[in-house]
Amino acid sequence: MAGGQDKGSAQADDIAMRGGGYYSLATIGAKHVIDAATALVLAEIERMALPRGRAFTLADFGCADGGTSIDMVRAALGALRARDAALPLAVVYCDQPRNDFNALFQIVNGETTIESYRDAFEGLHVSASATSFYRPVLPPGSLDLGFSATAMHWLSAKPCEIAGHVQAVGAEGAELAAFAEQGRRDWETILCHRARELAPGGALVFANFCRDEAGRYLGNTTGVHMFDRFNEIWRAFLAEGRIGEAEYRAMTLPQYYKTVEEFAAPFEDPGSPVHEAGLRLQAIETRVTPCPFAADFKRHGDAALFARAYIPTLRSWTESTFFGALAAERGPEARQAIIDAYYDRYEAEVRAAPEGHGMDYVHAFMTARKVA
Ligand SMILES: C[S@@+](CC[C@H](N)C(=O)[O-])C[C@H]1O[C@@H](n2cnc3c(N)ncnc32)[C@H](O)[C@@H]1O
Repeated sequence: MAGGQDKGSAQADDIAMRGGGYYSLATIGAKHVIDAATALVLAEIERMALPRGRAFTLADFGCADGGTSIDMVRAALGALRARDAALPLAVVYCDQPRNDFNALFQIVNGETTIESYRDAFEGLHVSASATSFYRPVLPPGSLDLGFSATAMHWLSAKPCEIAGHVQAVGAEGAELAAFAEQGRRDWETILCHRARELAPGGALVFANFCRDEAGRYLGNTTGVHMFDRFNEIWRAFLAEGRIGEAEYRAMTLPQYYKTVEEFAAPFEDPGSPVHEAGLRLQAIETRVTPCPFAADFKRHGDAALFARAYIPTLRSWTESTFFGALAAERGPEARQAIIDAYYDRYEAEVRAAPEGHGMDYVHAFMTARKVA
């Protein structure tokens, strides 16, 4: 198919955010990113012609438990209602099958401490699709606004293990090239699917992790390089005999951070299936969103408090891959004990020397439209 793989199983293994509502509670920084992207969503809603004879459909691709986007969705629905009091509104939450959709519906139905929008709007239809964004998710021509934040750096597959690191930011040579190529193909696949789903005049607003113009990326802005710490602690576990060589190597995160040029390329190349499908990039800019835990630490100065608050946010998106790297023969309890010890080690490091730790987010905020 145009845009690369449409494999039935296109899905990287061992990726899942921690469920049970843990995700939204631990990742307030991700909410700050979505709050910052809300103005782009509202600008698109303001500009576009609203559908007649069908619902306006807003989809959140890679929604996790929906808590971090709840205020963005509320604002979008409010803007739509202000324009049309009777237009049926549909919100579709999309994530991988292993995502905790129960937590999502508890949040959206107002059954948690997070304030929901559900009862604020008449004519609102909320549903979910447990389908990877590497596959078709919505019927052709039915999507008006596709949103995604902090999700599309997850690749559909690992092109290889990285011999000496846990993330592509530490890859070199052929390994780095393989990740870049996987990232290129995956981006094209995502965009081709969304291009088919979008109604003419519809829009995509994405806030995707990136490598910015200054070479910065997640956790590499403040001095301590987060991915190097992940790697060095995992390597220490190997040196101490807590894990084996194969387990060390298997901890390769299936992620790739694209540059602005890499994001823009398929829109700009007239021969690309993305361009042929009518998708055009309207705007793209990079932004750094400060780590809220490091900012709190600057105020309170309590290293132990900082370490206790900070490590869960790292854990929320790395734990399933670390766990998956451990040999199944160990059994779940022994694997969990290693994982607990791993994050305890990281927490002890932060407690002992907190300066420079932090996970600033580095995103490319972009808007694309399907030609009307
Ligand atoms: C860091 S969370 C971001 C959640 C939320 N969008 C936010 O910004 O707070 C990344 C989410 O992307 C989802 N994800 C990763 N790969 C995906 C895929 N192929 N299809 C759909 N969702 C995916 C993960 O399951 C996870 O829920």
